[in-house]
Amino acid sequence: MVQTHGQDERARQILRANDRGRYTVPSHGIYPYQWNWDSVLSAWGISSFDLERAWVELETLFSVQWDNGMVPHIVFHCTDDGYFPGPEFWNTGTDPATTGISQPPIAATFARKIFEAAPEVGRPWLAALYPKLFRWHAWFHQHRSDVGLIAATHPWESGRDNSPDWDQALAGIDVSCVGEYVRRDTLHVDPSMRPRREDYDRYLAILIAGRDNGWDEDWIRAHGPFRVADPGLTFTLLRAHRDLLAIAVELHRPTDRIEAWIGEVEAAVPRLWNPDIGCFDALDLRADRFAGAIASSAFLCWYAGIGDNRMLAQLERYRRNARLGVPSFDPEHEAFEGLRYWRGSTWPTMNAMISMGLAEAGHAGMAESIRTETRALIGKGGFSEYFHPISGAPAGGREFSWTAAVWLCWASPSAN
Ligand code: SER
Repeated sequence: MVQTHGQDERARQILRANDRGRYTVPSHGIYPYQWNWDSVLSAWGISSFDLERAWVELETLFSVQWDNGMVPHIVFHCTDDGYFPGPEFWNTGTDPATTGISQPPIAATFARKIFEAAPEVGRPWLAALYPKLFRWHAWFHQHRSDVGLIAATHPWESGRDNSPDWDQALAGIDVSCVGEYVRRDTLHVDPSMRPRREDYDRYLAILIAGRDNGWDEDWIRAHGPFRVADPGLTFTLLRAHRDLLAIAVELHRPTDRIEAWIGEVEAAVPRLWNPDIGCFDALDLRADRFAGAIASSAFLCWYAGIGDNRMLAQLERYRRNARLGVPSFDPEHEAFEGLRYWRGSTWPTMNAMISMGLAEAGHAGMAESIRTETRALIGKGGFSEYFHPISGAPAGGREFSWTAAVWLCWASPSAN
């Protein structure tokens, strides 16, 4: 039995403890800066008890938007030796320093939710945010779109760093440019829960390629060593476009370009269907090759307004032996690892987005199962970054902002 009131209060305490004034860190220690999609979800959680502060969170994130429209994946508001690679390594030349890549575009979706919970408070904030959201969505089409499929140029851009989705595309990357380095993540979290050394070598090689070419998007598009169309980025952007459209209508702004983007992504989605596995799949655009296995991002299809009975059957099969939410990678695949970050563990954030999509598509039973399971995971294991999808063991960073946020706004019995 989950102690609702005590857990709600604990979640609020975590968000307050991770508050650095105008932004929220994901977790003390391992992630000491502002991360893009973490921050958006933090804003959602904070909105349940401090609306103004929630809008400030989004305002801070979008205040570092690049001239080309990109909203970076990390904002280095301070210096902290506890994280690598830091601002000097990225060397983007911005003030404040940021990384040179983005992250899944969920801001329009959650800004809409925060607005709709209290439109009177939110209207001026939303009006100020709208043009920035629009420019970010345009940036995805200009620099990450392959005729409507949205590509990650770095595994970190997908938000699912070491998913097996990237294994084939990473395998051929030349790491000879990567010198000696000292990881900091494994000082905070057991190495068995983190990406392997071979993965980090490749993360750094891709980063160095972008950096040494001045983060020039044209160069990255033509020559970047990693370009994989991602169901996660494609579905989150499609969903965010639909929410941006609703915001545009609300604010009496033109809708034609947003409608065109929706049409373009919708028309492209069938190209992510891998008939060999009967599911949406990541597609390496350099090699024109599917990853060949199923990850939880495929089940964001309903969240994006797309989904059919084949996907529902696939989700039932996928969850057959791991029924604590939606494992981040297929539990029946040989590459599955239940505790190693994005190679199989269950993430409250993904569970929430997948479940919301299922509920909207009328799959109320499956949606509610995922919610109840996530409630039990957090209720028993606390506010960890993620959990083992079979044992329920908590893993990764502790006292995690987005887990607290997901609890307050969705998993708690007191959430709407
Ligand atoms: N998730 C990455 C890390 O673990 C960066 O976005 O550092």
